[in-house]
Amino acid sequence: MSEAPAGSFRVGLLGHGTVGAAFHSLLEERTDAIEREVGLRPGVAGVLTRSRGDFADILERSDLVVELMGGTEPAREYVMRALGAGKHVVTANKQLLSQHGEELYGAAYENGVQLRFEAAVAGVVPAIRVMSETLAAAHIERVHGIVNGTTNFILTAMEETGASYEDALKQAQELGFAEADPSDDVSGKDAAAKMAILARLAFNAAVHLDEVPYEGIERLTAEDIAYAKDLGLSLKLIGTAERIDGGLAVSVHPAFLYGAHPLASVRGSFNAVTIESPAITEITLSGPGAGGPQTASAVLGDVVSAMIPPPTLPAPAEDLPLVQDVESAFYLHIEVADRPGVLAQVAEILGLQGVSIKSVVQKGLGEDARLAMVAHPVLESKFRAAVEMIERLDFVRTKPRVIRVIDETFE
Ligand SMILES: NC(=O)c1ccc[n+]([C@@H]2O[C@H](COP(=O)([O-])OP(=O)(O)OC[C@H]3O[C@@H](n4cnc5c(N)ncnc54)[C@H](OP(=O)(O)O)[C@@H]3O)[C@@H](O)[C@H]2O)c1
Repeated sequence: MSEAPAGSFRVGLLGHGTVGAAFHSLLEERTDAIEREVGLRPGVAGVLTRSRGDFADILERSDLVVELMGGTEPAREYVMRALGAGKHVVTANKQLLSQHGEELYGAAYENGVQLRFEAAVAGVVPAIRVMSETLAAAHIERVHGIVNGTTNFILTAMEETGASYEDALKQAQELGFAEADPSDDVSGKDAAAKMAILARLAFNAAVHLDEVPYEGIERLTAEDIAYAKDLGLSLKLIGTAERIDGGLAVSVHPAFLYGAHPLASVRGSFNAVTIESPAITEITLSGPGAGGPQTASAVLGDVVSAMIPPPTLPAPAEDLPLVQDVESAFYLHIEVADRPGVLAQVAEILGLQGVSIKSVVQKGLGEDARLAMVAHPVLESKFRAAVEMIERLDFVRTKPRVIRVIDETFE
């Protein structure tokens, strides 16, 4: 192994794609400034891609490894080997952390090194740092996040232009906000991985991607959004992680928000995270959620932090049960025959399950009518039971549509 010059800090770079190449350029651009700030001069010790570099050789020559390859293998193996060799690791890989987090956090803990991952959730928005440092002593009750820029771009376009889901997706692809295969984004899976990571931090409890139920935006219609506007609501793909009855619920769903909720104004491809804790009420952080230079900036921030080791190590996870049936307000949209008594019958069934209606919009549609309503918070199982009963009524014309409503506004 060649001896590194005194005062140098060597970074092994795994992956040189969109983020890796942007990180490499930014590190070179900021080398002098970082040396002035930290007293060590960072430099790239070696680069690994599918066609160049040798991992073992790069590992040996590095003080810290930056993993920007993506995917779970061989990223997991390389990160484990780096941690095992006593090297700090910085990664932007949400798939890796949401599926193998406990193994990796454990290895970092045992080896007394840092595993940093600010860029894995919400790009450059410093949600990880704020949760693990600024709010380290706060009791976090709930985290809501718009953690996928592609879906927020699509929903914003549908809301602002009345476009269909298909047209808004096409527009996102043309402008580079959605990939040719957008499945992981629009299905909610990408957001679920990020919420598993945020939940681990917020509640110090192990949460695997497989334990996060998710629902995407593929089935939402321009009509849902138009009706919701009449009810004063705006539609987002929301990740939620919250404490409930001594347990923990983590999920991703489309949800309506009232205008005064801090996430309601997050538009286009931006990401945002709202953290609620009794001591602070709420904090909302927002900004660009992706992009090479933006993500690279978060990665470099982690590298600089790792150059000055903190005195503490991450604590092992607590064992909190995962709660499936959670209370929420709901939006319900039904097409019914336009005849007297229909609304009263729907209201009666809802009432039998303990569901009370907050607001209703009714519109005629030839011989039929459309009912769009918002119900006050109730257990999801009770609301779904009422909707199943309503679906069987002879005057109901189409399958009822149900979307969650987040009714906090923090005013
Ligand atoms: N793009 C964003 O805006 C963004 C935002 C936040 C987080 N992230 C995360 O950042 C990471 C990197 O994303 P990216 O968009 O930069 O990906 P990318 O453009 O596809 O680049 C991946 C890089 O990793 C290399 N690589 C992949 N598999 C490899 C293997 N088995 N062995 C060696 N090298 C391998 C590729 O090598 P070749 O060059 O030889 O193909 C390429 O250089 C991912 O975890 C992603 O989720 C990305």
